[in-house]
Amino acid sequence: MKARKEVIGSCTLYHGDCLDILPRIESVDSVITDPPYGDGTGVGYGLYDKEIAGNDDPLLNCHALRLLYHCLRKNGTIYNFTNWKHQDFLRSYAARYTRLNFKRTVIWDKKGMKLGSDFRPQHEIILVLEKGKPVYRRKDFADVQTFATVQHTADTHPHEKPLGLMKGLIAHSSQAGETILDPFMGSGSTGVAAAMMGRKFIGIELDEKYFDLACRRIEAAHKQGDFFGGNETPLEQVKMEL
Ligand SMILES: C[S@@+](CC[C@H](N)C(=O)[O-])C[C@H]1O[C@@H](n2cnc3c(N)ncnc32)[C@H](O)[C@@H]1O
Repeated sequence: MKARKEVIGSCTLYHGDCLDILPRIESVDSVITDPPYGDGTGVGYGLYDKEIAGNDDPLLNCHALRLLYHCLRKNGTIYNFTNWKHQDFLRSYAARYTRLNFKRTVIWDKKGMKLGSDFRPQHEIILVLEKGKPVYRRKDFADVQTFATVQHTADTHPHEKPLGLMKGLIAHSSQAGETILDPFMGSGSTGVAAAMMGRKFIGIELDEKYFDLACRRIEAAHKQGDFFGGNETPLEQVKMEL
């Protein structure tokens, strides 16, 4: 099936299944992605009971990782969001079936506990996977990143990620003009941050309503202009933006 493609400034967005589209993408500088974790609950999220495509399949992230190895340039980094339930098998899969090397985990501390019992969740995990020997640019990047969750409404994505968190990852692993890929872009938070920071962006989303929302958000970010004139992003400016 031919995927719908939208080009907004230096962002290229595909509406379709990333497992079909990724084999056509090559040499991106970094991947920052928040796949459906595969919790498979069959229950919607939050107040508005929203279901996420692909959340019934914990192997979806594994299949994507295998393809992402080939999309990534040598000495590039993948930041892969996951949670405590899935990190072990994702790491085992990556070690056994890809040539990605596990570097470490970064914890996203959501600043407050969420609904639950016994051990109420307050964090998510970001796996840092490497192809070759990537360069990390920020000297002040902690392995715990603290950003409050984005409250979702009837019209937004239930898993929208904080822009400050995404900007920090982008600043740590890329320079202005480089390309960031998010194959599970949802409402496009990675793309919004990339556009605001003068990076090129490739995003893929299966669900049409979230694809359309990502297009609108990235277009708005693009209209704000290139903050950094296409040059190297000064770290001071990145800090002010976070
Ligand atoms: C956890 S959400 C990402 C949310 C995003 N970080 C944001 O800030 O809005 C994962 C997204 O992956 C999408 N998805 C599921 N399966 C997919 C596939 N095979 N190809 C592309 N996107 C897919 C879902 O529709 C969902 O929007």
